[in-house]
Amino acid sequence: MRRKIVAGNWKMNNDLSETEALLNDLIEQVPNTDASVMVAPAFVNLFQAFNVLKTFNVEVIAQNMHQEAKGAYTGEVSARMLKSVGIKTVILGHSERRAYFGETDELLAKKVDAALANELEIIFCFGEELEDRKAGNHFNIVENQLKNALFHLDTAAWKNIVLAYEPVWAIGTGETASPEQAQEMHAFIRKTVSEKFGDETGNGVSILYGGSVKPANAAEIFAKEDVDGGLIGGASLKAADFVAIINAI
Ligand code: G3H
Repeated sequence: MRRKIVAGNWKMNNDLSETEALLNDLIEQVPNTDASVMVAPAFVNLFQAFNVLKTFNVEVIAQNMHQEAKGAYTGEVSARMLKSVGIKTVILGHSERRAYFGETDELLAKKVDAALANELEIIFCFGEELEDRKAGNHFNIVENQLKNALFHLDTAAWKNIVLAYEPVWAIGTGETASPEQAQEMHAFIRKTVSEKFGDETGNGVSILYGGSVKPANAAEIFAKEDVDGGLIGGASLKAADFVAIINAI
């Protein structure tokens, strides 16, 4: 049985008091579930999120980290710093990091190595842009993103990898991949991982879908065989919506 995961990526939205309010709403409403539930507040709010959530079954995760262990990298946060406040999981490769901060596959391979060296679990994001899909190039793009950032790993490392397929055209746009489109790509991703690392790894890796998941569409997306949960942006900022999505898994 693959692990089911629902993760909320709060991006750069909430200040401290807004974060506390959302955390308090969440702990009042979060259901008992076999799925792993995670939230990713901004760096400055991680520590407070731990304090509020410590007795609840919700993991606090980070949205990003720097690839170097330490040094003169003004404004950056290392894997070791994340670990020191209790973080066990980090999101890497989000399309917003790729688009607005120039993160390449090559850089992401370094971040992946740094996270794994610090025993962090990784939610690795990737996905095609609209032009890629229109041109019928989406499978190639996704395959290359996977290969360039993750195929240098050894098989054992995959126990710390979660994949998050996020078609860029569906992020924050209200437009969602259809359940069939999600399933088709997730099956392709699983096959690609299996071919390189074996069936045990391919069948064992959790693959999340991200891109305008909301209470109204979560259940039909999560029902697909190769969809093991979701990475939720906008809808994770309201506890009631996030809880409804958790309940859909
Ligand atoms: O990390 C989350 C994804 O970017 C999805 O965001 O649910 O607002 O489309 P969204």
